[in-house]
Amino acid sequence: MITMAIVASAPAKIILFGEHFVVYGEPAIVMAIDKRAYATVTERDDEKLHIRSSNLNSSGYFHDGIFRIESGDEKETRMKFEPIRLAVEKVLSIDGKKNGFDVEINSTVPIASGLGSSAAVVVAVVMAISSSLHTKIAKEEIFRIGYEAEKLVHGNPSGVDPAVSTFGGTLFFQVDTGFKPLEVKADIPLVIGDTGVKRSTKVQVEKVKELMQRHPRIADLLKKTAREIALGAVDALRENDLETLGELMNINHALLYGIGVSDESVEWLVSAARRGGALGAKLTGAGGGGCMVATAKNEKLENVMAAITKAGGNPFIARKTDDGVRIEHE
Ligand code: PMV
Repeated sequence: MITMAIVASAPAKIILFGEHFVVYGEPAIVMAIDKRAYATVTERDDEKLHIRSSNLNSSGYFHDGIFRIESGDEKETRMKFEPIRLAVEKVLSIDGKKNGFDVEINSTVPIASGLGSSAAVVVAVVMAISSSLHTKIAKEEIFRIGYEAEKLVHGNPSGVDPAVSTFGGTLFFQVDTGFKPLEVKADIPLVIGDTGVKRSTKVQVEKVKELMQRHPRIADLLKKTAREIALGAVDALRENDLETLGELMNINHALLYGIGVSDESVEWLVSAARRGGALGAKLTGAGGGGCMVATAKNEKLENVMAAITKAGGNPFIARKTDDGVRIEHE
């Protein structure tokens, strides 16, 4: 059997406002950025699901409920591949099919750094598999499957990552009411700084939960403040008011610091970015390492990048993208 390879891709994201508080029902503002995860899918003659990740430098396959490692660390590889297996099974179950696949993952998104790489990978795989099977699938369904798969990665996700990887653009997201696209006409100049410190979203979310439980009244006030910050940011984004946006990012970072999810690596980069001329800087995603994001006037971007590099981080300029998950070619 000769089958054609199908390539799909999905964007990474940054959380501009509201990480962690979004888990407790408060709003978050998330933006798809121009770094993408690519999934190349080819049908197999048997029913194996074979996965290779060039980023993890690992490969293995699932067959009859058993995972066999080929290269890489067995425990880590299995943990990273399980959400992909679940997502593929969900797509197969739509039309009751049983095909096997070769899935090749290539991603330009740094792993475990707060940019939503796992969600982008899963969403791209869902699109590529459904296209290969000629299974009709709406974007809402892709998001839903991505969300189910993300629950394997960390127990109580808000769903922001699969939402923005599926739909692209800038979204106002709330667990109860779902996501609403925000119109952001201007390109917001953003620098992302990767600390290079890998961390687990699940661990950070658990830590926040315990703190919130120990200080319920303070937690309520912090949540209310996080909500006001996100609501203020909607106006600032609409009006392209970078100064206000920067101030709100700084306040948001202070809250995140307060709930214990910043760390030394993040603080270095956040301070460096501000010293380098950023209007505002904060961690993005779960924290405890990972990435931070800063906004600055265009003419200051290079300065901010240099300051982040000097502080030991790995900076890059991020542009928003309206393109959610898509087929690259088939
Ligand atoms: O670091 P990331 O990309 O996994 O984002 C986590 C965002 C949290 O708000 C901390 C958790 C969530 O599920 O929204």
